[in-house]
Amino acid sequence: MTADDQKKAAGEAAAELVQSGMIVGLGTGSTAAHFVRALAARKLDIQGVPTSDATAELARELGIALVALDDVKRVDLTVDGADEIGPALSLIKGGGAALLREKLVWEASRRCVVIADAAKRVEALGKFPLPIEVVRFGHVHTGQRLADIAAEFDLLPPRPRRSERGLTITDGGNLIYDMSPGRIESPAALAEALKSVTGVVDHGLFLDLADEALVGTDAGVVRLT
Ligand code: 5RP
Repeated sequence: MTADDQKKAAGEAAAELVQSGMIVGLGTGSTAAHFVRALAARKLDIQGVPTSDATAELARELGIALVALDDVKRVDLTVDGADEIGPALSLIKGGGAALLREKLVWEASRRCVVIADAAKRVEALGKFPLPIEVVRFGHVHTGQRLADIAAEFDLLPPRPRRSERGLTITDGGNLIYDMSPGRIESPAALAEALKSVTGVVDHGLFLDLADEALVGTDAGVVRLT
């Protein structure tokens, strides 16, 4: 089974959790896209809250009705991918630069299900570079504060994410700094330190947010709680 087969199996399993009448948070990334496709195929009467412009576009193409987060009182179920799944369902997210909207939708959700291929499970978070969303104004100075924090946590300094078109800009108009790979020994303390920096909008550590994980493996989809 390829990693993509595993992502698809997890996405399809998650689509089975959805019932008509639900408000559903739609994650971002290739695994979440499998979920969105499987959900659209079920033709349920639901409304989706997209976590990125890219997911909104895909959902619209597939005929899923969309609603803005601020136009609903609550989200019943959010299904989203992750870059790493660590102990106690701690996560790194934001590889697709959508961490801010993702976290806002997750935090408004009654139930959050993370879907992934087997390679995303790790014993400790940090091999995947932790994304941090930073406002553009003064970002070089913010980057220096982040480098100080990285040093405190025995991590290497973060770097601004670039593509061939220049600095990566998020849907919210901010930048992404990626922490260099390392072992994050104290995710909660790191999360708190990152949030304390003026200029940091949010970071990709999702702690105590996932209720369960559906992980595609060669032996089938495994449910973790
Ligand atoms: C986007 C995310 C994605 O969920 C994460 O990057 C996983 O992506 P994929 O499913 O393509 O492996 O956090 O911001």
